[in-house]
Amino acid sequence: MTVTDNGVATPAPAAGADAHPTMDINLHVWRQAPGQEGRMVTYVEEAKDISPEMSFLEMLDIVNERLIAKGEDPIAFEHDCREGICGSCGMMINGQAHGPQKGTATCQLHMRKFSDGDEIYVEPWRARAFPVLRDLIVDREAFDRIIEAGGYMTAPTGAAPDANLILVPKEVSDAAMDAAACIGCGACVAACPNSAAQLFTSAKLQHLNLLPQGQAERYRRTVAMVDTMESYFGSCTNHGECEEACPKEISIDFIAYMNRDYVKAQLKNRKLAGQTST
Ligand code: SF4
Ligand code: FES
Repeated sequence: MTVTDNGVATPAPAAGADAHPTMDINLHVWRQAPGQEGRMVTYVEEAKDISPEMSFLEMLDIVNERLIAKGEDPIAFEHDCREGICGSCGMMINGQAHGPQKGTATCQLHMRKFSDGDEIYVEPWRARAFPVLRDLIVDREAFDRIIEAGGYMTAPTGAAPDANLILVPKEVSDAAMDAAACIGCGACVAACPNSAAQLFTSAKLQHLNLLPQGQAERYRRTVAMVDTMESYFGSCTNHGECEEACPKEISIDFIAYMNRDYVKAQLKNRKLAGQTST
């Protein structure tokens, strides 16, 4: 029995038991300087005494502090919000985009998902459209090109209207909200055997295309974004790996909606072109 500062008695830990167990990890990380070939580097000493309560990124922070203390270059990885919102922290962990926990971005993955003595392999996204900039950081600019092609509304909307002025059925607003949950992380591309970006593009399209405010530019937007997507990324062959890897669990149903809109757009835009030329 031990007595704490405030006089509360607690049972003493059993002989040999550790009140704060830590983990020793055999960490293998892809290191790549700009413009050079990359390689896996193993860190054992630097990845000792890791708390299971740390997030995966906090574990990398600890490893980096130890590397800096030894005068070595820290591992470069991208992060910002650390709460599953910004989409910047993507990396392959043991061959899985964002690691072993479904529906979870790397920053929200905790070391308790791993065990003492585990081998953990960490790599950047692997896709031709996402070139490696350094270590675990890739250039996701191709996503920006897709958004620039039409992932917005140009219609002047004026001041904020009264609530409920534009009625939207609950199912439609729920679906648009689900699509809007995409954080642009790129896990769908990294997980796809074709490096296709259909899940990302369809989510970015449908959160606008489903709502009344998005109708004016719906078909022009769809063609512009899909055509831009196809100039950077591979084609979808319905593997479904994207949905499995997505930390926001975006449904591949959105890809079907996107394909429907794309086919419709070919007809509608052609009709409009015909009308303007006569
Ligand atoms: S669809 Fe999912 S996996 Fe793809 S970019 Fe959006 S959030 Fe990331
Ligand atoms: S750091 Fe923002 S989603 Fe992970």
